Amino acid sequence: MRQPLVAGNWKMNGSLDSIKPLVEGIMAGLDSVTTAEMAVCPPYVYIPQVAAMLAGSSIALGAQDVNDRESGAHTGEIAPGMLTDVGCKYAIVGHSERRSVYGESDEFTARKFAAARQAGLVPILCVGELLEEREQGITEQVVSRQLDAIIDLEGAGALADWAIGTGKTATPQQAQDVHAFIRGMIAREDAAVAEKVQILYGGSVKGSNAAELFAMVDIDGGLIGGASLDANEFLSIGRAGNA
Ligand code: PGA
Repeated sequence: MRQPLVAGNWKMNGSLDSIKPLVEGIMAGLDSVTTAEMAVCPPYVYIPQVAAMLAGSSIALGAQDVNDRESGAHTGEIAPGMLTDVGCKYAIVGHSERRSVYGESDEFTARKFAAARQAGLVPILCVGELLEEREQGITEQVVSRQLDAIIDLEGAGALADWAIGTGKTATPQQAQDVHAFIRGMIAREDAAVAEKVQILYGGSVKGSNAAELFAMVDIDGGLIGGASLDANEFLSIGRAGNA
């Protein structure tokens, strides 16, 4: 049985003032989450503050993105080693907003994935189709292309320590179908890795729909955007993973 991971992606939200009660609220209710690992991914600038607040807690810390280089003349970018330096375990890689709004390619995403692993981070690789791609019926082609970019660069062995976020506002069955497709694709490379990899669903997960999503056999938790900005809502999603 794979442990569920419930990761909050705060996106470009928050302030010094708002983060404190949010993190304190999550920590105060954490005992009610018995099974899932909980993680938060604040904007880069707040990571040290959140790390200090989380010291000694079981909540893991992640970043929302990472660069593919170790250091150097890359104005505005953050290196993987900087993230481990400030206490991150996870880095989201290839979020749909990076891909579609900022035009980041499958190849760049694959290099970020490789660099994150190299530095000892666990990449939360996001794959998934845009709404218009789903309507065109090309979901599987899009997801295969995105995964193949990783497999081509890193090989199947690299897949052992990753988590994947996928999709946008799907029904539990639609999400399960894509997750099963992803696990099947990985299984063709390495069955043991496919059994182990956590495949998270991302897209409008809330306290009210998390249990039915997490009940699906190939859904191993979620990447939570908007609902992770409310401590009680985020905790209720975490509890939906209770065994
Ligand atoms: P959402 O975001 O839960 O607000 O839909 C999920 C994500 O894009 O990470």
